[in-house]
Amino acid sequence: MLSSPSDLKVTLIVASVRPDRFGPTVAAWATRRALAHDGLVLDVLDLMDLDLPAGLDGSGDTGLLRSRIDAADAFVVVTPEYNHGYPGFLKTAIDTVEAAAWRAKPLGLVSYGGGAGGARSAEQLRQVFAELEVVTVPEAVTLVRVWDLFDDAGRLLDPAGPDSAMRSMLDQLLWWGRTLRAAREQAVPVGAEA
Ligand SMILES: Cc1cc2nc3c(=O)[nH]c(=O)nc-3n(C[C@H](O)[C@H](O)[C@H](O)COP(=O)(O)O)c2cc1C
Repeated sequence: MLSSPSDLKVTLIVASVRPDRFGPTVAAWATRRALAHDGLVLDVLDLMDLDLPAGLDGSGDTGLLRSRIDAADAFVVVTPEYNHGYPGFLKTAIDTVEAAAWRAKPLGLVSYGGGAGGARSAEQLRQVFAELEVVTVPEAVTLVRVWDLFDDAGRLLDPAGPDSAMRSMLDQLLWWGRTLRAAREQAVPVGAEA
């Protein structure tokens, strides 16, 4: 699909960093759905590829992460659920980037796990991102018993529900993304550094 200068820059963040993680299967599906959606250009940011210091001291790939977050108009987070929460490394990534790079941008959630499909992880992220003035859109993708949903080639066995949820989430993300981009062009958000 041809991109246009008005397209929204969406950064899709892959939050799981375990060696034998299922995350890339979910992220690859979400990436395909996003690429098929009009009105956006996609940057896939796999946290597994980044060296981020737990001490938030700005070393390693912190600068690279900041520049990717800063360049985005909107975000999608693909997250698993660990012990009813989101991955600790995702929190490090969130905290290590200054608030101004996140502020006044929308974010959509794709969660996966067992019986709750990662919904607890996703709901906790809404709380965290509220502090950064990130608008988490209400539509979300929730993949229950994720290990049963994909075939060996990484295709969803029954794509209708997840595809539809992803479309609705991206529609909301683009509406908020365009609206907030225009607002950021008009005025610096309250509390943002000049
Ligand atoms: C440390 C750990 C804790 C987990 N806790 C939960 C949980 O609370 N709820 C849930 O639905 N699944 C839980 N799971 C299962 C994960 O959802 C499942 O392993 C998923 O594939 C994890 O994503 P990943 O493979 O991309 O890391 C847990 C898995 C791990 C490794």
